[in-house]
Amino acid sequence: MTKAPAPRSASYNRRVNHPAAPADTLRATLADLVDGLPPRQAAQAVERLIANYRGDTPTDAPILRDRADVVAYAAYRMPATFAAVRSALGAFAQAVPSWVPGSHVDVGGGTGAATWAVGDTWGGTRPVTVLDWAEPALALGREIAASLPALREARWQRARIGAALALDSADLVTVSYVLNELTASDRAALVDTAAGAAQAVVIVEAGTPAGYARVIEARDRLIAAGFRVAAPCPHSAACPIVPGTDWCHFAARVSRSSLHRQVKSGSLAYEDEKFSYVAATRIPAEPAPSRVVRRPQIRKGQVLLDLCEPDEQLRRRTVTKRHGDLYKAARDAAWGDSWPVGEAPRGA
Ligand SMILES: C[S@@+](CC[C@H](N)C(=O)[O-])C[C@H]1O[C@@H](n2cnc3c(N)ncnc32)[C@H](O)[C@@H]1O
Repeated sequence: MTKAPAPRSASYNRRVNHPAAPADTLRATLADLVDGLPPRQAAQAVERLIANYRGDTPTDAPILRDRADVVAYAAYRMPATFAAVRSALGAFAQAVPSWVPGSHVDVGGGTGAATWAVGDTWGGTRPVTVLDWAEPALALGREIAASLPALREARWQRARIGAALALDSADLVTVSYVLNELTASDRAALVDTAAGAAQAVVIVEAGTPAGYARVIEARDRLIAAGFRVAAPCPHSAACPIVPGTDWCHFAARVSRSSLHRQVKSGSLAYEDEKFSYVAATRIPAEPAPSRVVRRPQIRKGQVLLDLCEPDEQLRRRTVTKRHGDLYKAARDAAWGDSWPVGEAPRGA
């Protein structure tokens, strides 16, 4: 671990709109990538990719087989996976405000979305290793990463996730949108190996009931390995959601590219990427006092907040105008934000 400037929040990056912010560089680099393709060919590659990902996973061989596949993946999915991981890392960074990863390993890293998200969360440079079994994904990831100085020295290495996977020790290990593609035994082996190698492990999955179930399974294994949950949960006890009744997930807003609009034949300028995640660590962390787990409902003179609270309960709290500054904070609160539970009134 190294001490460095405080992490930049997503809103900081939005406000400052620094031309060199990794989020902006990634957007521009991916736009250039798509500009180089005939539109019909790009749309067909995306449609093939979507069809493959609808097929049965896990697979015995990489789904991303050639350059057309990985360009489609990078153009179509990478902005969304980047946004989801960025959001998870932002919440994690809030729980460990003076910590900056001194090294990062991204397992099943593909074209490197999580490496960009780490670069966007914490400034500076660090040794970065991306592991994946799909050589075309690694090759494109390396190519895209050439536009970000912090990633120019990154190592892009072929590796198969499974019982034989060995990881060098690293401050941070990320596993983003990968567990879905693994067998149950490979999922368990990967989480245990990550726990043995890292100070902090961040796992992101699709925000579906199945994605949430895989995150909970990983969360349990990380806690059993001696980790504490830093985000999104306000505690490391059992998740209060009764299995099968609901699922904990969040949303990250992603601008739609012209390719997205073409494939989805829609005109919306953005979409919301739903994701589930856990960030767990061996270092001291201060989890959120409580977490907003649904989009807040703003009514006349009141805001309804659905919260996950530190006493292992889910509660709806109603914040009204008479709560003054807290009401103002509630009006600004977003799904996924932390919330100061001690100051909140009991719900109606
Ligand atoms: C949906 S992509 C996610 C890529 C990237 N982490 C992201 O968030 O955009 C899943 C990645 O996991 C890799 N993968 C799946 N199974 C694997 C395995 N058994 N060994 C190594 N990599 C694997 C795939 O090649 C692919 O790059």
